[in-house]
Amino acid sequence: MISVTDRIIIAPSLLAADFARLGEEARAVERAGADWLHFDVMDGHFVPNITIGPLVVKALRPHTRLPFDVHLMIAPVDPYIAAFAQAGADHISVHPESGPHLHRTLQMIRGFGKKAGIVLNPATPVEAIAHVLDLADLIMVMTVNPGFGGQTFIASQLSKIATLRGMIDASGRQIALQVDGGITPETAAQVLAAGADTLVAGTAIFGSTDYAKAISDLRAAALRRAPSLAFTAG
Ligand code: DX5
Ligand code: ZN
Repeated sequence: MISVTDRIIIAPSLLAADFARLGEEARAVERAGADWLHFDVMDGHFVPNITIGPLVVKALRPHTRLPFDVHLMIAPVDPYIAAFAQAGADHISVHPESGPHLHRTLQMIRGFGKKAGIVLNPATPVEAIAHVLDLADLIMVMTVNPGFGGQTFIASQLSKIATLRGMIDASGRQIALQVDGGITPETAAQVLAAGADTLVAGTAIFGSTDYAKAISDLRAAALRRAPSLAFTAG
């Protein structure tokens, strides 16, 4: 379980930022207290939307020291891992459905010296990660269907988060348990109580007028609502 010594990681998703001012937006969330910067890469094929490619990741690299948390929603994914690694990604996360050989894809990501992540769509069972946990640095639970920001949180995923928390703890490995989609102060409290430690939030941060307040509201709501954290935080 999460204890008071474990810090919650907040990763603003640039998908909800002003795309005409991405450098400025990246710097603004760093100043506002973000831990990682989340990139949603979409190809119009694996998901029904098209966003950014490695050129944009590379262009933003000099603007911030935040680790770049790159979420690839593209298929096939393997041919593009090198480009994102070389563009400055620190974490590269993939969906099991985006290529035929997840084990090889994770090996490839780690071969570039990057942290490797696995992303589970709402309908993807936890078993998808069971035999590749040794190669995972991050597991991310989608609490919306991937493709768009601003969607409604899917509460049926809370039990999946709890199951994954158990699997990660049993593995004895340091693996971040992220949640992506529909995160607000209210849903943040629920996913953290279920065992998540890392929050991706687009609309809740970039849709607000005060990024620092939005980030601290996510942290504070989690402390207030999650019983284990509230108990140990006092
Ligand atoms: C959806 C993306 C999410 C999205 C979250 O495909 O993976 O990162 O930007 O956006 P919000 O926080 O607005 O639900
Ligand atoms: Zn994402």
